[in-house]
Amino acid sequence: MNIALRPNHDLKEDIRSYWSDRSKTFDQDFGHRIADGPEFRAWATAIRDELGDRPLKVLELACGTGEITRVLLSLGHTVTALDFSEAMLDVAKRKHAGNPNARFILADAENTMEPDAAYDAVVCRHLVWTLTEPSRAFQDWHRLLKPGGTLLFFDGDWAGPSLLGRCITPIITLLARIGGGRKQLDGGMGERHAAIMSQLPFGSGLRPDLLTPLLADAGFRDAIVRSQRGIDVGQRKGATLRDKLRTLVYRKFVMRCTKPVADR
Ligand SMILES: C[S@@+](CC[C@H](N)C(=O)[O-])C[C@H]1O[C@@H](n2cnc3c(N)ncnc32)[C@H](O)[C@@H]1O
Repeated sequence: MNIALRPNHDLKEDIRSYWSDRSKTFDQDFGHRIADGPEFRAWATAIRDELGDRPLKVLELACGTGEITRVLLSLGHTVTALDFSEAMLDVAKRKHAGNPNARFILADAENTMEPDAAYDAVVCRHLVWTLTEPSRAFQDWHRLLKPGGTLLFFDGDWAGPSLLGRCITPIITLLARIGGGRKQLDGGMGERHAAIMSQLPFGSGLRPDLLTPLLADAGFRDAIVRSQRGIDVGQRKGATLRDKLRTLVYRKFVMRCTKPVADR
C-alpha cells in the first residue's frame, strides 16, 4: 500500500511561529509600536478620517500586540481583536486588561468564524501582505460586515523599496553600523522572513491595483487608496535620523472600501 507522506507543517504554521517569536520585541520596533504623542495622533487622525466620529463595533484582524487596538479604543470604538499567534495575543490582552470595550480572540483572520453581518468595520494593519488566500479572506470579511460596513486597512509593498528607498538604504545601513540608530529587533530572522515571503501570493509585491479586482470580486465597492504620508510625518517627529529615513523606504498605503447597503 502506498501512503502519501505530507509535510507536518504548512506555510501558515511558519507564519504563526515567526510572529510568535517576534512578539517579545515587537513593541520595541520602530514602525510597529505607536509612540504616544505625534505618532499616536497621526494614527488616530488617519483612522478617524476613514471611519468617522461615531463609535462603531470594530473587528480588528491580526491585532498583534494591540497597538492599533489602542488607537481604535481611544476613538471610542468597541473592539474585537483577533490574532492567530497566542504569544502576540497575550501581549495585547495584558496591555488592554480591564478595558470593557476590548475583547480578544484567537482565530485565523482568513476564516474568522465570526457571525454574519456582525460588525460596522473591519480594520487591520500589516496583515494583507501576508495573507495566504486573499480572495477567501476578503469574502469572509465581506460576510461578517453589516451592509454599509467599512473595510479599512494599512499596508505596504514590502517586497521592494521605492527608488528613493533604494537610494537611501546604504545610508540607513551605514547609520546602523556607526550606531546612529537602533538595530532592527527581529532577532536576526531575516532568512525566515524571506522564506515565508517567497511562498506568499503577494510575496513579490503588494500594490493597490492588485487588490482592487479581488476586493470587487468579494463584493466590496467604492475602493479608495491614500498614502500614509500623514502617519510618516507623525512617526518622524522625535525619531532618530536612521528611523526618519526608514519611513521613506517602502510604498505604504491606506485602502478603504464598503460593503454596499443593497448587496448583490
Ligand atoms: C506585522 S504583524 C502586525 C500586527 C498588528 N496588526 C500591528 O500592526 O501592530 C502581523 C500580525 O499578523 C498576524 N497574522 C498573520 N496572519 C494571520 C492570520 N491568518 N490570522 C490571524 N493573525 C495573523 C501575526 O500573528 C502578527 O501578529
